[in-house]
Amino acid sequence: MSESETSIEALAVSKVYWDGDRSLEILKGISFSVKTGEGVAVLGPSGSGKTTLLNILSGLDKPSAGAVKLQGIRISDLSEKAKADFRNQTIGFIFQFYHLLSEFTALENVMLPALIGKKMGSNLEARPKAEALLVRVGLKERLRHYPSELSGGEQQRVAIARALMNDPRILFCDEPTGNLDVRMSLEIAELLRSLFESEKKTVLVVTHDERVARITSRVWNIVERDWQR
Ligand SMILES: Nc1ncnc2c1ncn2[C@@H]1O[C@H](COP(=O)(O)OP(=O)(O)OP(=O)(O)O)[C@@H](O)[C@H]1O
Ligand SMILES: [Mg+2]
Repeated sequence: MSESETSIEALAVSKVYWDGDRSLEILKGISFSVKTGEGVAVLGPSGSGKTTLLNILSGLDKPSAGAVKLQGIRISDLSEKAKADFRNQTIGFIFQFYHLLSEFTALENVMLPALIGKKMGSNLEARPKAEALLVRVGLKERLRHYPSELSGGEQQRVAIARALMNDPRILFCDEPTGNLDVRMSLEIAELLRSLFESEKKTVLVVTHDERVARITSRVWNIVERDWQR
């Protein structure tokens, strides 16, 4: 695939929630595209629909109207099984509220995408990669801790390592530094930068953190709906 190829494409994506007979229009016909190897930040006030947008772009949620293409594939055309496989192999997602599995250790949480996707044949193959990712996010000493034994920032870093486990082409990040201190936020911002600059992944990051927005090549304000820079 050439570098200039479109990686993420939103085609007039709308989302309407219903509260009884009252409609709440959250996303109003959003269209944009992100090229392979681009890093883009999405800004906007609380409640403006940033998480909703990421969920739709990543195929976790469906738009009320419009469509999404990832790597040229219209995800609404995929069966549920094909979509799950595609997501496992192509997408990494860092959730705003981590969504770690409480009964598994940090190491096991990071290994899970590989074991589920059978990308790596066994624990033996997945383990060293998961360990290396946890070292990369500064958690060398926390491999065997359960989520309840980790701070919020540590859980967030486990979630970042997990999102990278299957070497995804596209990474969606929802406030990836929301619980991190300044030093760790800078490190994660640099990690994200290396993912799109050196590894040519596509990174779409929702953030309020100027340190993160600064490293991206484009900033999209979901309310103003104009591309800056
Ligand atoms: N399942 C749902 N049913 C009804 N309304 C919803 C649902 N999910 C989200 N909303 C509403 O949609 C709006 C956008 O929510 P969303 O979580 O996308 O905001 P956000 O921009 O990510 O906010 P934050 O910065 O606080 O994370 C909110 O007003 C929320 O109340
Ligand atoms: Mg949100």
